[in-house]
Amino acid sequence: MSEAADAPDTPQGPTVVARLPAGAADAARTLLDQLAEVFDASEAVVSAYDGSSGWTVAIHFNAAPNQTAVRALVGLAAGPEAANALAFETLAAEDWVKASQEGLKPVEAGRFIVHSEHYRTSVRANRVGIEIGTAFAFGTGHHGTTRGCLLALDHLLKAHRSRRVLDIGTGTGVLAIAAARVLRRPVLASDIDRRAARVARENVQRNRAPSVTVIHAAGLGTRRFRDRAPFDLVLANILLSPLQRLATPMARLLAPGARVVLSGLLTSQASAALASYRQHGLALERRVVLDGWSTLILRAPSSNLTHLAASAARMTAPSPPCGERARGSLQRVATG
Ligand SMILES: C[S@@+](CC[C@H](N)C(=O)[O-])C[C@H]1O[C@@H](n2cnc3c(N)ncnc32)[C@H](O)[C@@H]1O
Repeated sequence: MSEAADAPDTPQGPTVVARLPAGAADAARTLLDQLAEVFDASEAVVSAYDGSSGWTVAIHFNAAPNQTAVRALVGLAAGPEAANALAFETLAAEDWVKASQEGLKPVEAGRFIVHSEHYRTSVRANRVGIEIGTAFAFGTGHHGTTRGCLLALDHLLKAHRSRRVLDIGTGTGVLAIAAARVLRRPVLASDIDRRAARVARENVQRNRAPSVTVIHAAGLGTRRFRDRAPFDLVLANILLSPLQRLATPMARLLAPGARVVLSGLLTSQASAALASYRQHGLALERRVVLDGWSTLILRAPSSNLTHLAASAARMTAPSPPCGERARGSLQRVATG
């Protein structure tokens, strides 16, 4: 997925940016996703910004790239028109990640607004600002999965005052920080990528969210998860396969009635993810569909009926379809 990256070092010399007109916001997001897939984030940062003549996607390189190769890569990812439209420009020596972040517009999702330092002063008083630093890991708020999780979180926090929160695959820490800023409760955040965990810790400090503890861990195998369980809110924006593998260990860590937010799922993958969690008695409560990505809110069985509910779930018919689309809206799932 896009944006997942090591934190690159800041170069001293001139850098290069390739810009591509993208038109409307949706087209820019699609291009951003496509291009972020093909460039190694230790060498290039892909961002999008809204200008006077529509959206532009920019690829900032930390060293002068082979322009023919870049055009070929862009052509493969986004087609020949995009490759031809690329315009390269050499920038004076500067912090290239910072420059790219200045082009990253703040992203609103419910009460939350995710922004870089550059936009710190523009956060309105009635919003919960989450400032993401210039070191790169996934989670600037621009991706449909992150925005979907923030919308789901915004919705859940209106009705539930979760006491113990777990954010698996925290990336920049954006979701953990969002939950902690509102709940002021302990949040455990983990990432399989050591550098992402480091970036998340930096962002936790930047946002003065001391109730967030970030650990470097693959999956849920270590004791540190059991020590902090049971969780009544779990956020996991990863991908279908790891989410399926996490279903069993996650179910053991859930409090009765816990809510689980799953994301990183293409709309076509939502049913498969749901099936894995239904095996453990979790039920689909709501979903958010954004830019072709599904975010699911699941509810764990209440009280000690967990085991019975899980058995019943194994005997029921296939799950309802998850294919309906609603741009950025929350959809409540009818329960029988
Ligand atoms: C799509 S990003 C989500 C980042 C952030 N939570 C957000 O919503 O923007 C997924 C993150 O999950 C991490 N990840 C992938 N598989 C994992 C696993 N099995 N356990 C923990 N983290 C994992 C990746 O390193 C990456 O930082």
